[in-house]
Amino acid sequence: LRPVGIIGAGKYVPEKVLTNQDLEKMVDTSDEWIVSRTGIRERHIAAPEEATSDLSYHAAVKALEAAGMSGEELDLIIVATITPDMFFPSTACLLQERLGAKKAAAFDLSAACSGFVYGLATAVNFLQTGMYKNALVIGADCLSRITDYTDRNTCVLFGDGAGAVVLGEVPEGRGFKAFDLGAEGAGGSHLYLEGGGSRVPASLESIEAKKHSIFMNGREVFKFAVRVMGTATEKVLEKAGASKEDVDLFIPHQANIRIIQSAMERLSLPPEKVVINVDKYANTSAASVPLALVEALEEGRIQEGDTVLMVGFGGGLTWGAAVLKW
Ligand code: ACO
Repeated sequence: LRPVGIIGAGKYVPEKVLTNQDLEKMVDTSDEWIVSRTGIRERHIAAPEEATSDLSYHAAVKALEAAGMSGEELDLIIVATITPDMFFPSTACLLQERLGAKKAAAFDLSAACSGFVYGLATAVNFLQTGMYKNALVIGADCLSRITDYTDRNTCVLFGDGAGAVVLGEVPEGRGFKAFDLGAEGAGGSHLYLEGGGSRVPASLESIEAKKHSIFMNGREVFKFAVRVMGTATEKVLEKAGASKEDVDLFIPHQANIRIIQSAMERLSLPPEKVVINVDKYANTSAASVPLALVEALEEGRIQEGDTVLMVGFGGGLTWGAAVLKW
């Protein structure tokens, strides 16, 4: 199998910032509650004219620039999202047109907050076998569009953003070493958006019943997250033939600081080996892991030869973990 790694990366978050203080004016909550229970201080919210393909485009342009490539050279585009611009065409097809990626195959992938790692695993398989030479993988979501801003249980948790990577062949010994993907469909009822699909199509009744925004059983998702962050990281490290001592940088899904802390304890990782930006962006779903990855790169926290561990979890319920030698 060909060695495949990340050869360019970029991120984008919308300009508008929604702080905990802003939310205090919208629902019965407090900065103190949000910070102590989640670690979140603010989040970015897309402008009315911005949609997921716009956030994706800005991140993709930066990733292509970092890889020294043009859109025309791309073989494959995968956008992981649960908030596509529309049902179809896919967000990946909208992007293919805008990037001038004429020869690229393009599709969206739905695995909620695990979507980016699922997307990486999918693209890496296409590249390792030689079917394609390169791929653009994007994690992007506009959760603000499916959030009920009168529901304090969910509206304080989410933000919008996009992260993009270009994958390509890397020198022998480097690149992706292992993935661990999984799903627990039985837990799907803890986190979902019911309306607008083929079971509950949009209607006046579905709008009145608030079926077009996220429902979440926070406590159950929390328990699932803590459990799979532990099991998925252990499994993926074993598959990669690595131990937790080998991890130079841990990039967890940014949903809740307490979930990240529990994983840090289980892996015995010190803060300098963990990327945390949930305070600035909140939970951006599929964008969360790539936003954290790109920020770590921008801050010079990843060096050649480093072992990077990424883990996402979310709706489905799903999880995805990856080990990468930079
Ligand atoms: N402000 C003030 N009080 C609040 C707020 C708020 N924003 N939200 C909830 N509360 C109240 C609740 O009503 C509850 O009150 P009650 O005890 O009177 O019923 C109380 O605070 C405590 O609620 P808990 O659910 O016990 O709070 P917990 O400590 O579990 O924190 C949280 C809740 C933050 C949601 C946590 O459970 C969590 O992070 N869960 C995981 C969420 C997650 O990771 N989702 C990821 C996937 S998202 C995706 O895929 C799109």
